[in-house]
Amino acid sequence: MKRITKAVFPVAGLGSRFLPATKASPKEMMPVVEKPLIQYAVEEAVAAGITDMVFITGRNKRSIEDHFDTAYELEAELAADGKQELLHIVQEVIPGHVNCIYIRQPKALGLGHAVLCAQPVVQDEPFAVILADDLIDGEIPIVRQMVDVYERHHCSILGVQDVPREHTRRYGIVSAANLEPNVERVNGIIEKPRPEDAPSTLAVVGRYILTPRIFHHLAQVQAGAGGEIQLTDGIAALMLEEKLLAYRFAGIRYDCGSKLGYLQAQVAFGLKHPELRDEFAAYLATVRNP
Ligand code: G1P
Repeated sequence: MKRITKAVFPVAGLGSRFLPATKASPKEMMPVVEKPLIQYAVEEAVAAGITDMVFITGRNKRSIEDHFDTAYELEAELAADGKQELLHIVQEVIPGHVNCIYIRQPKALGLGHAVLCAQPVVQDEPFAVILADDLIDGEIPIVRQMVDVYERHHCSILGVQDVPREHTRRYGIVSAANLEPNVERVNGIIEKPRPEDAPSTLAVVGRYILTPRIFHHLAQVQAGAGGEIQLTDGIAALMLEEKLLAYRFAGIRYDCGSKLGYLQAQVAFGLKHPELRDEFAAYLATVRNP
């Protein structure tokens, strides 16, 4: 069995829901407290033993590359000022044994197309896909949980959670039969169905483990929902050939692609933050019931 050593981060999206913040800087660099969303995503991959980070980038995404690169001038200044703690934070953004690989997606043709752009690097290995918008806080990092499921079942796995029926239009929705606690065997998947058409309320959130056979299908799928090449459609074709599981992960997900979810993440992570939590909790108590 091949180990999972690569994670793909599709980061070419325009982030139009956060304009004007995303006019000149990527949405993946928006911070929750002091850490950018993309760093949470990369840390989750590192915690799962992944060593190759494959970013599918586009225009205006240079700051992501800079973020994971050495910052010589900044490091020299912090060192000269004796600011050891900050120097450490800057140097620890990514561990030394991790490789960052950047591939440009020349056109925003959809999530499925973005994942297909990773094929020259991923080749014939199973891999993880992490959408940094979906910030998931778990005692055990979610990709770690999914790699554990992969090591038992050796097949593609989708991270899922139940959502209110009125929200099915925002997600890939699966139909599935229970296999073991928290693991379902998927027998159907559809992108963003209307609530009345949704086969269930079990939604795919931004964590996937995929076998390399997905590339074959992504190369063939036609534009689907929203005129885009959908990852969900590639997965639907893969499911007809290979076992496909859905995993109900243990953790709280914040939809940082939406303003409300992003604010909720700020509050939750602020309340957990070692330096801030007491003062922030005291502050929130004053605003909760004005
Ligand atoms: C994408 C996928 C969708 C999935 C969602 C999770 O949609 O296409 O299947 O449920 O991510 O966040 P997007 O949020 O990019 O519209």
